[in-house]
Amino acid sequence: MAKHSKNLFARKSRAQQIRELVVVILLLLAIAIVCLFLYFNLFGTAKRYTLVEDLTAEIGSEVKGSDFVASIDGGTITQDCDVDTSTLGKKRCELTFDFDGKERSYGFDVEVVDTEAPVIKAGDDLNLLIGSSFDPAKQAGVKDNSGEKPEITVTGDYDTNKAGSYEITFSAQDSAGNKAESSMTLHVIDPAATDGDITFVTATGAKGERVDGITTIDGLIIANKTFGLPEYYGSEDLTGDTYEAYYEMASAAAEENLWLDIVSGYRSYWTQAELYEGYAASYGYDEADTFSARPGFSEHQTGYAMDLNQVDESFADTPEGIWLAENCWRYGFILRYPEGKQDITGYIPEAWHFRYIGDVELAEKLYNGGDWICLEEYFGIPSAYAEDTEE
Ligand code: DAL
Ligand code: ZN
Repeated sequence: MAKHSKNLFARKSRAQQIRELVVVILLLLAIAIVCLFLYFNLFGTAKRYTLVEDLTAEIGSEVKGSDFVASIDGGTITQDCDVDTSTLGKKRCELTFDFDGKERSYGFDVEVVDTEAPVIKAGDDLNLLIGSSFDPAKQAGVKDNSGEKPEITVTGDYDTNKAGSYEITFSAQDSAGNKAESSMTLHVIDPAATDGDITFVTATGAKGERVDGITTIDGLIIANKTFGLPEYYGSEDLTGDTYEAYYEMASAAAEENLWLDIVSGYRSYWTQAELYEGYAASYGYDEADTFSARPGFSEHQTGYAMDLNQVDESFADTPEGIWLAENCWRYGFILRYPEGKQDITGYIPEAWHFRYIGDVELAEKLYNGGDWICLEEYFGIPSAYAEDTEE
């Protein structure tokens, strides 16, 4: 019985084993089907695209999520995302793909970093007219990719009252610690101590140049105690445009029964030398210097300056003197040595001395509603003989 039972059990056991095996196989199949289902429907996309290794973006840069996708296996991105690079740190990025007609969203993190140094833009090397003010802060600008504006530190000694070349360095650091540096050379130019052609900027930023001994500032010939003229310079007469403008001005004055007359126009170096020496003999050099230019420094030698009607103080109060002071700018003339500007022009007021500058707009600016601005003020230039400025 026991043997029988044993045999019976063995047979049952085999059948059972087969059944169990079938159940296990079916179970495994079911698990495999579920896994395949999950693989294709839930996690399938994970293996259908790859990301680049470097998941960082520079602050302030324009970056999209798709920029980090290295490859896509048989699908397309249907919705990209802009990475917020305005601040540092981890930024979530969601991309939507189309894989075989099925939309899948997938997210990943991008780290926004700041590894770029600020960019300092220093101006070109600068030739500055001696004695002019200089603000180094205006010579350089800084930009940082983070959008912040790091402070610029200026290093380097300079003396704008002493001719020479000075190295100036600008440096800046952003809050992430990235540093930048840029340099420029400041050349302080003393025209009196420099031979040959020069270019420079003035205290007001006007552009000056001296070519063949003739100085122009913003294109206008300048003759004063600082900027002289070569001995042989001049065309022996007033320039054609000065005459033309004068005739127009004189005609306008005549319509108001005012009569203009040129009593001194172009003066050569040698005529000026005679005049100046004559005044110096009568009044002494110091006083002569207050109303007469030394030879080579008179505006009359440019051919753009003229004395009208009456070379004396009382001219200011004559109808012609009053009319000229009020109206000369309309014809491109300026009252060159106005009242109260002796310290700047270097000359006492001359109500009779007019300078043709041509540019009516500039002439009106200098007229300044009757409160004349002199060329030295406007251009930020000195008027002093070299020996007077030496220490
Ligand atoms: N009187 C003016 C300053 C000249 O001599 O040119
Ligand atoms: Zn004059």
